[in-house]
Amino acid sequence: MRSHEKLKISVLVSGGGTNLQSVIDHIESGYLDKAKIVRVISSNCDAFALKRAENHNIKGVCISKEMLPDPKERCAAIMKELEAAGTDLIILAGYMSILEPELIDRYRDKIVNIHPSLIPKYCGKGFYGRKVHAAVLAGNELASGATVHFVDEGVDTGKIILQEQVPVKPGDTPETLANRVLQIEHRILPEAIKMLCDGKLK
Ligand code: GRF
Repeated sequence: MRSHEKLKISVLVSGGGTNLQSVIDHIESGYLDKAKIVRVISSNCDAFALKRAENHNIKGVCISKEMLPDPKERCAAIMKELEAAGTDLIILAGYMSILEPELIDRYRDKIVNIHPSLIPKYCGKGFYGRKVHAAVLAGNELASGATVHFVDEGVDTGKIILQEQVPVKPGDTPETLANRVLQIEHRILPEAIKMLCDGKLK
């Protein structure tokens, strides 16, 4: 990327896309003035995140397990989209699928994930969605939070970029805790992208 060019981001999603929306909003407000979203790729064709992309004139595509059951073929289709869009950085924002090693290798240190816990706690295989927050409550934790990290071949094992805590409050349910953590996610994901745009992370 030349210094005057914008960082081209592809966002991979599966659901509501509030983190995608936060990145869009931070680009539109000028906070992320060196970034642009070139693709939204969803593993779920009904994801509201695709609607959010459409609302902001961002090209969205669905590449689902139903369309392409073979993981290698699915990965090839995703990589084709990423290449066609000239992707510099991949953001996993609630993406509920595991990436194939060839994709991770091709975009080494250029894939970032947001996870709704304080990694290394409550992460890895099986810790997704409300399960993360239910486990935090079952563990009687006093705090939880969110983590932005690079993606490597493991599940939630890549180098941590940013992390922030929220309190767990008496009477919390997985939903109330998820909402509190989401507020943090919406702030630290754009912050991490800004650090990448500014070359503050190698
Ligand atoms: C977020 O909690 C994210 O950390 C997790 O999935 C959720 C996605 O939410 N990986 P949204 O689709 O961005 O609203």
